Amino acid sequence: MVRIGYIIGSTAEGSLNQKLARLLVDQAPERAEMVHIPIRHLPLYHRDMDDDFPQVMADYKAQVAEVDGLLLVSPEHNQSFPAAVKNALDILTRPQGKNIIGGLPLGIAGASPGRFGTINGQSQLRQFLPPLGVKLMGSPVLAVHAAKETFTDDGADEQTTRRAASYMEAFTEFVAGHR
Ligand SMILES: Cc1cc2nc3c(=O)[nH]c(=O)nc-3n(C[C@H](O)[C@H](O)[C@H](O)COP(=O)(O)O)c2cc1C
Repeated sequence: MVRIGYIIGSTAEGSLNQKLARLLVDQAPERAEMVHIPIRHLPLYHRDMDDDFPQVMADYKAQVAEVDGLLLVSPEHNQSFPAAVKNALDILTRPQGKNIIGGLPLGIAGASPGRFGTINGQSQLRQFLPPLGVKLMGSPVLAVHAAKETFTDDGADEQTTRRAASYMEAFTEFVAGHR
């Protein structure tokens, strides 16, 4: 079994990325155990917390420390990734010297109602993450465009469902190969 944690970058009502995350969980191969890691409750990080690390952040870090790989399912905000996602990733690198994502296999997926399906936000993540030491999966890329027309009450259209399944197969393989 491979344990995969997933972070959803949106808590909006009826979030498209929550729907995408649900699809990815549904389409994950049996050998992948999918664990949701919530980030909504996390305060904004600042340096004083290095000396007095909040328990809520320690608990969150402990959840991430228990997974073999981490999947970010995130919207795009102004051609980048949301501040909540940046904060959640920053916390994983603190206090100084206690970065727990060095060597962690990481995947990125996202959905947007527009034509480009979070591709700009994803490319910003691809710049920011490697210096933190993560092992980033390069391909396949999963950027779901026109997502309002894609998701249904109980899943997604056939093409997106197939793409989600092959993404999860590839990511599970990637995580297993880097354990
Ligand atoms: C602050 C903000 C900035 C946004 N910027 C973009 C953008 O650059 N590109 C894009 O495709 N959608 C953008 N959107 C629209 C989101 O893609 C849309 O709200 C989407 O539903 C967000 O994902 P969610 O439903 O999972 O929250 C933006 C939305 C917000 C709130």
